[in-house]
Amino acid sequence: MNTVAFYDTKPYDREYFERAPAADRLRRQFHEFRLSSETAATAAGAQAVCVFVNDRLDAACLQQLHQLGVRLVALRCAGFNNVDLTAAKALGLAVIRVPAYSPYAVAEHTIALLLALNRKIHRAYNRVREHNFSLSGLVGFDLHGKTVGVVGTGKIGKIAAQIFRGFGTDVLAYDPFPAPEWAATQGVRYTDFATLLSASHIVSLHLPLTPQSRYLLNAESLARMKPGAYLLNTSRGKLVDTTALIEALKTGRLGGVALDVYEEEEGLFFEDHSGEILQDDELSRLLTFPNVLITAHQAFFTHEALSEIALMTTANLVRLADGQPFPAESVLVDLPSRP
Ligand code: NAI
Repeated sequence: MNTVAFYDTKPYDREYFERAPAADRLRRQFHEFRLSSETAATAAGAQAVCVFVNDRLDAACLQQLHQLGVRLVALRCAGFNNVDLTAAKALGLAVIRVPAYSPYAVAEHTIALLLALNRKIHRAYNRVREHNFSLSGLVGFDLHGKTVGVVGTGKIGKIAAQIFRGFGTDVLAYDPFPAPEWAATQGVRYTDFATLLSASHIVSLHLPLTPQSRYLLNAESLARMKPGAYLLNTSRGKLVDTTALIEALKTGRLGGVALDVYEEEEGLFFEDHSGEILQDDELSRLLTFPNVLITAHQAFFTHEALSEIALMTTANLVRLADGQPFPAESVLVDLPSRP
């Protein structure tokens, strides 16, 4: 029976992975700490490691895993910017992910953030609880008739665009690999990035973090956005230069920002730091703006998504034990013996 070391786990991970079909085919070790070169020695005896978005699998970490006899890195998420795939390939370590577990979960959370931000639900909720029934400062705008720019029209971006269309918005899209047939059926119009920025009242990011997309939203691109526009980021924190974002908020250039991800979220998000002094000055500053709404990487967090992640990951871990091939869509780096 194969042993799998799980990292950065919470009680809910354990719950869903213990419930997954075929879970009893694996010996599981659940660690609460994250995997990095400092903690990699704890994978001794495991054939596979199962990691999440903030585990850091750089070349040094992968080298140690390889030396310990680990054959597979199974990401229980879609994004894979935290794994050095080139190093994994060179070492002959396979890397797999869950390419789509519930794109609806992420798209719907994006909309939840937008609606809350625009209609000031977060502020209204607190006011009403204190019996303050004043409406001053709570004015929002109709989404109907506005223009939304969707950056990245993969699985999540497409669903988000379709929901935005349901509000009666015009949807512009930018993607280096457009899907023209889908766009035609949904009434979505592809354009270049600069036009999307200047024409949209709301810009929503649904693209992966890559060396090319890092700081896609920087001082220059933020300055191209419509004055008063909203920015939504439920993809990856480093798509946005936080220093430039704070500046755009201070000058009033941006009307509102909703984030489910933050460029320095590692070590903060997913944990309770409520009794501590927050050391991150940029996050502290962001939290002072009344027109900024932040959730701590929870867009994926639905029952359906957690079930699907556990189901697909467990099935792949069992495939490793049985010598069966992984489904092509899961594979980032295949086992060396496979062509
Ligand atoms: P996907 O791979 O289906 O689609 C990504 C799309 O972005 C592709 O169509 C690709 O061509 C496009 N793209 C790549 N580079 C681009 C660029 N420079 N400009 C514009 N478009 C570009 O990915 P999916 O499933 O839609 O996920 C999107 C992102 O959402 C993931 O990469 C991940 O970072 C994030 N995510 C966040 C979650 C959360 O809980 N907050 C959960 C799951 C994913």
